[in-house]
Amino acid sequence: MHLYKYEKIWLLLGGGTLIIFLLVVGINAFAMGMTPPSHHETIDPNKVDQTAPFNEQGLKQVGDNEYELVMVAQAFAFSPGNIEIPKGATVHFIVTSKDVVHGFQIAGTNVNMMVTPGHINRITHTFKETGSFLVLCNEYCGVGHQAMSTTIEVM
Ligand code: CUA
Repeated sequence: MHLYKYEKIWLLLGGGTLIIFLLVVGINAFAMGMTPPSHHETIDPNKVDQTAPFNEQGLKQVGDNEYELVMVAQAFAFSPGNIEIPKGATVHFIVTSKDVVHGFQIAGTNVNMMVTPGHINRITHTFKETGSFLVLCNEYCGVGHQAMSTTIEVM
């Protein structure tokens, strides 16, 4: 089969890009343990309030300016809401849902999770600057979806 020079160049570029892409994805997935922030720990969505750590919701200090924030998403609110945390704090969010799939997005940060009932979702974020951060549900969850939000005040 005869291939023209430019055809060969484009085939090499295309194939090479594909190999680089698969290498990056493969190394991330298998060597660096990159996984989505959910679906590892399960919970009975009907017994959330009785199951640790959701039997004690809220902010808990676990280290030097390091906190655990246990939250429950439910149509159409996050509880507890209106959280206050100190500047520079590292917060380990632990979130589950009691009913349907909700979103957990903190505007202006990389925190963005799908909160699935039956699963415990974890994500960590360090708040380096003071301000008011909006926490949004970004998965359509019913008639009150657009009102489902709260705030995190970093003081
Ligand atoms: Cu909860 Cu949309």
